[in-house]
Amino acid sequence: CGIIAYTGSKEASSILIDGLHRLEYRGYDSAGIALVHRKRIRCWKAAGKISMLEQGLPETTPGHCGIGHTRWATHGAPTDANAHPHTDTDLRIAVAHNGIIENADSLRAQLIAQGVTFSSETDSEVLAHLLAAYDGSLIDAMRTVLPKVQGTYGLAAIDRNAPDTIVVARLGSPVILGIGENEMLAASDMSALARHTQEIVHLDDGEVAELSPRGFHVTTMDARPSQKSSTQLSGALADYDKGGYAHYLHREIRDQVEVVQRTLSGRLDLRFSTAHLGGLNLAPRDLLNTRRIKILGCGSAYYAGMAGAHMIEGLARLPVSAEPAAEFRYRNPVVEPETLYIVASQSGETFDTLAALREIRRKGGFVLGIVNSVGSTIAREVDGGIYMHAGPEVSVASTKAYTSMLTVFSLLALMLGRLRDVSPQRGSTLVAALQELPDKVGETLALEDSIAAIAPTLIKAHSAFFLGRTASYPVALEGAQKLKEISYIHAEAYPASELKHGPLALISSTTPCIVLLPDDELLTKSLTSLEEIRTRGAPIISLTDSNHPRIHELSDQLITLPAVSTLLQPIVAGIALQLLAYHCALLLERDIDQPRNLAKSVTVE
Ligand code: G6P
Repeated sequence: CGIIAYTGSKEASSILIDGLHRLEYRGYDSAGIALVHRKRIRCWKAAGKISMLEQGLPETTPGHCGIGHTRWATHGAPTDANAHPHTDTDLRIAVAHNGIIENADSLRAQLIAQGVTFSSETDSEVLAHLLAAYDGSLIDAMRTVLPKVQGTYGLAAIDRNAPDTIVVARLGSPVILGIGENEMLAASDMSALARHTQEIVHLDDGEVAELSPRGFHVTTMDARPSQKSSTQLSGALADYDKGGYAHYLHREIRDQVEVVQRTLSGRLDLRFSTAHLGGLNLAPRDLLNTRRIKILGCGSAYYAGMAGAHMIEGLARLPVSAEPAAEFRYRNPVVEPETLYIVASQSGETFDTLAALREIRRKGGFVLGIVNSVGSTIAREVDGGIYMHAGPEVSVASTKAYTSMLTVFSLLALMLGRLRDVSPQRGSTLVAALQELPDKVGETLALEDSIAAIAPTLIKAHSAFFLGRTASYPVALEGAQKLKEISYIHAEAYPASELKHGPLALISSTTPCIVLLPDDELLTKSLTSLEEIRTRGAPIISLTDSNHPRIHELSDQLITLPAVSTLLQPIVAGIALQLLAYHCALLLERDIDQPRNLAKSVTVE
């Protein structure tokens, strides 16, 4: 979901619509705007794409103050009525809400008992009625109503009685203020503000703010003033576009040489053959006392964490594991002082990852963040961290941020390895391998045409299997995820060793198998799996940097990856699988940048 709000001297509607377009990439299934003009609130909403909303707008939509929203259905279907903004019956208040109101049913029942008629099935509509029931100013209404609300919100509201004022509030779902010249904006995501201002302020949980063309005022829920300082948006965010590609996803895949360069930049320490990571806030002594590492994330960030666990465990000889952030937080986790916790998140706003971080910190654990979005909530709440510097990622499915996360994990593995088990000689070999990584990424991208040639076979399948052992298993998981997300072809990932314990029952001539075969000590074992698949007649697509003749004999199609250090093999293999998924989705004419039912950043539970 996304929120945009504007108050100033310009026509609000075009700024709101533009803001909604900027938020599109996050995923949505309906959209709407509300404007206040001459003490009247008018509201337009439509299910489907923003173009549907635009078609429904009258020729002129006067008003210099308003709010807009893209909705991703949670409570109630994606219909016109369920789209935001929501208003009260008298159209005094309009509200756009991200998050979930957990006690919406009981609030709704109370309001119905008082004679209120609802026009949608959403949890959010209760907010409009509750706020409108209060006689005072909108900000006072917020401070009275919000303590009664259980759940999470990032919200923006307008009141016809204060026609140039917007009130925003935050609890668990991001709200960012944009400061302009005689105008103010607010949004749930920096990308919606970047065109209008570079000066932003992050609202914290439990804060409400009143915005008008004259400025802004932030307070806590109990009306104590909050001191806020503004930060500057990076220029890169402001001019980000498709760069001549048909899809953001394609651009983001093709940008990965520079992405990896940026992630590595200034972080390789040639003198001590290690990595220099400035923001950890941990002394070498603390790191030496670390007994284990736990990595948490959601979706691709979780799979990157799994790959990272192999990298760190392999070099630092510490037990490292990764777990989905939501699973972790719901199982009342044991938090230990000698465990280093790492949360990985591109957006820095994923609710489950944030909740896991807060639970660990509440229990006294130390948490490092691996985050892309500078100044995001997770970045602000961790004890220390490493920014990815991948640049903005727009396509819902993660590619360059995933690769950048793996690059950060490889740096961390090198650094921790050099504190423990890795000799200076081996360290310098690894540093050299990392220096070469951007070139290797370039060589992998150069395989695009040959990878694209494989897509026509793969799209005929109803189901595909991705197989890899140990460090390649997370690569298989992410490869299957990418194919599912953007091409909608069903795919499953298995450790190759598990094949005979179940999935082999499904392997036939109609189930292509994508097999990861890095040239390492397990190669001969993996060849056995290849034989097992071949015997069942399944088409085999192998990804390898080995020239073992059996691979050629057993594979129907071969992607020959550049030779890299074992540590970095998952990075290049992952990029090849991104290209494969992209070309399948392209042939199938899918909505590549905004796959159905998915959102870029899931800021709700
Ligand atoms: C959503 C996206 C995924 C992403 C995940 C975690 O599910 O669709 O592509 O990997 O969130 O996002 P984060 O911003 O925390 O990395």
